[in-house]
Amino acid sequence: MTQSSSKAFTPLEIGPLTLRNRFVKAATNEGMCKGGVISKGLAKFHERIAEGGAALTTVAYCATSPDGRTFVDQAVLKPEAIADFKVLTDSVHKYGGAACAQITHAGSFTFLPQSELQTKKPLSASGGFNKLGVMSKRYFKKKMTRSDMDRVAAEFVNAAELARDAGFDAVEIHMGHGYLLSQFVSPFYNKRKDAYGGTIEKRMKFPLEVLSKVLAAVGDDLAVIVKYSQTDGKDGGNTIEDGIRVAQMLEATGAHMAVLSNGLNVESITAMFGSSLPEQARTKPSNLLLRIGMMMQKATETEKVVFKENYLLDLAKQIRAHVDMPLCYIGGMQSLDNANEILGAGLDAIAMGRALVFDPSFVNGMKNGTTLQNGCTACNQCVTMMYAPGGTACIDPNGKRGHAAELNTIPASAA
Ligand SMILES: Cc1cc2nc3c(=O)[nH]c(=O)nc-3n(C[C@H](O)[C@H](O)[C@H](O)COP(=O)(O)O)c2cc1C
Ligand code: SF4
Repeated sequence: MTQSSSKAFTPLEIGPLTLRNRFVKAATNEGMCKGGVISKGLAKFHERIAEGGAALTTVAYCATSPDGRTFVDQAVLKPEAIADFKVLTDSVHKYGGAACAQITHAGSFTFLPQSELQTKKPLSASGGFNKLGVMSKRYFKKKMTRSDMDRVAAEFVNAAELARDAGFDAVEIHMGHGYLLSQFVSPFYNKRKDAYGGTIEKRMKFPLEVLSKVLAAVGDDLAVIVKYSQTDGKDGGNTIEDGIRVAQMLEATGAHMAVLSNGLNVESITAMFGSSLPEQARTKPSNLLLRIGMMMQKATETEKVVFKENYLLDLAKQIRAHVDMPLCYIGGMQSLDNANEILGAGLDAIAMGRALVFDPSFVNGMKNGTTLQNGCTACNQCVTMMYAPGGTACIDPNGKRGHAAELNTIPASAA
């Protein structure tokens, strides 16, 4: 199949948004938000992705409230940040791309010091010992009450409305990887015995409530996307049968597209990345908490996982067989041949993380035939760069270099 005949370069409708092609830049916690300030560097990073041809670029990991952060240097969707976010979305639109804000609440997956928080214990689906709190000395988590759920759902709505004000074209609700909504979905975290725990239908009750409220608030104006983990990637967690039920429930609730990720940050990181974090990557981060976090992940890894292109396609095909809604594949897409295989299997769009960190102009390279194969080696070194001063970047000698790190300390809207 030639580039010009590939479905990859045809438009796709998701809710009220038309994508110019099938390629999405996945959220890759870009950093570049010192003290939560959206920097010129972050705007530049996403501008390059749009200039490089992707239809939609996802700004990773925007917290729905200050208490919903994992790290101090994380973006928060709050009124004071809108002018900076607007510079970012304008830069993306200038190149014909669309911008998506990933909206998330960390729940108990937080490394914030107590001084940064309103609440004493981090929220989660269930209370009790907080294994992640060993790092931040917050040893116990709080089982969310109904009024906590009302407040957090309202924060998701507020964040989506602010994203609309900031010129975003889409929001991606994060229901995967072990953050708050995923702590409801996953039996590893949800031990509740009430209406919000037990079967997968009950575990999905609160996340679906968040989805329907966000859809009601912004769904006519923005594409409302959900990213979730098809499986928890570990025995005792959600299986692909659960993943199929989740997709069916998202479809019934009206989500405009689902992004089919896999695994959990701590329990099964290799299920997400399709490859191990190399030893040197675990020892490198200067941030102590990040270093300890990566060592915890290492402790859960039973064997070295070797990267394979399109490593989640077999799972995604099973979801495809059970729903009609638009589905976005993610996981190891590295070539136009990979893209054609994914679209040939009936998936509608393709998100790329590492391939676009390696080469932001990869989509144009595939389109004009100059780069049909990406050079990312899936070494996962970029995962250690998220909180380095330069932000998330490829450190492979063959990867394309980004902007000067100084831009990461200047607010995007500064003159
Ligand atoms: C440096 C880095 C940071 C990431 N941060 C996020 C994030 O903030 N939110 C998220 O949902 N996924 C995050 N991911 C996971 C990616 O979105 C994606 O699921 C994963 O990299 C697999 O896709 P790929 O093979 O195209 O890289 C991150 C991945 C990388 C490499
Ligand atoms: S550091 Fe570069 S080559 Fe290694 S996984 Fe990240 S993008 Fe790919």
